[in-house]
Amino acid sequence: MAGGYGTRLHPITLATSKQLLPVYDKPLIYYPLSMLMLAGLREIAVVCTPLSQPQFEAVLGDGRKWGLEIVYVAQAEPRGVAEAFLLCADYIAGDSVCLILGDNFFYGHGLPEVLQEAASLKEGAQVFAYPVANPSEFGVVEFDGTGRVLSLEEKPSRPRSHHAVTGIYFYDGQVCAIARELKPSGRGELEITDVNRTYLERDELRVTELGRGVAWLDTGTHDSLLEASRLVQMLQQRQGLMVSAPEEIAWRRGFISLAQMKDLGQRMAGNAYGQYLVTLAEQVARNQPSAPADA
Ligand code: TTP
Repeated sequence: MAGGYGTRLHPITLATSKQLLPVYDKPLIYYPLSMLMLAGLREIAVVCTPLSQPQFEAVLGDGRKWGLEIVYVAQAEPRGVAEAFLLCADYIAGDSVCLILGDNFFYGHGLPEVLQEAASLKEGAQVFAYPVANPSEFGVVEFDGTGRVLSLEEKPSRPRSHHAVTGIYFYDGQVCAIARELKPSGRGELEITDVNRTYLERDELRVTELGRGVAWLDTGTHDSLLEASRLVQMLQQRQGLMVSAPEEIAWRRGFISLAQMKDLGQRMAGNAYGQYLVTLAEQVARNQPSAPADA
């Protein structure tokens, strides 16, 4: 979901989409896109404003360079996150589906396994809870020790727990029909919390806690955007490893070959991003001399 007006980031977002702004060395959308790729998902619909669609196309193309199939769906007005399921109903075609907010940043140990497990979901819905100091600003979930959800509230003034629902959601094939029944909320939006509440009422909502070993940031404000950039800069400089480089993930997941990743790096060989991909490809090829460069 990469639409919205990004009003909290005005004036930066007057002429460009929030999800195309830089988080250190990559456009913001690379980070949620990387989560989908880590989950093993390759068929991706980018929902964005009609104005920004050509810009997204310039950045991501049809996804083939990363072994993905990316299509674009215009959202004329930001009528809410759950409108994704009305706009993309034909594309989803009754399958299970993952929705990720285009401004959500995740990083942490064990995430790929958690995401892959969630992507294998066939029935019900799966959301993730994350402890926050300011729950009133989020969808808040209360759950018991077995992961059964007890309550779900959108931006409550008196939150029943300090767990926010993060911006990545997995649903079964019922989700588009559920979205069709939604009424706009008080703020005039089709709310994802209402979708989740329908699953809760059907006793089909599961929640998994993302522990303190995971970083979850929403990058919707000037400060949080800068914090995310600082975090990526710090991790990358310390480890010498890239955070959420789609080219690397595509190769590690087997979506593209080592030679294809190296080629993508060579197109940016004048900067540290491209050099990282080229060096990684050369190191892997050296360490596996029996494997051809494009294995
Ligand atoms: P928000 O942060 O709620 O909205 P926004 O991005 O327009 O920012 P602001 O509040 O500053 O005006 O949106 C969360 C994410 O969902 C964000 O990545 C944009 C996306 N989104 C859509 O794609 N369509 C929508 O209708 C809405 C409400 C959000």
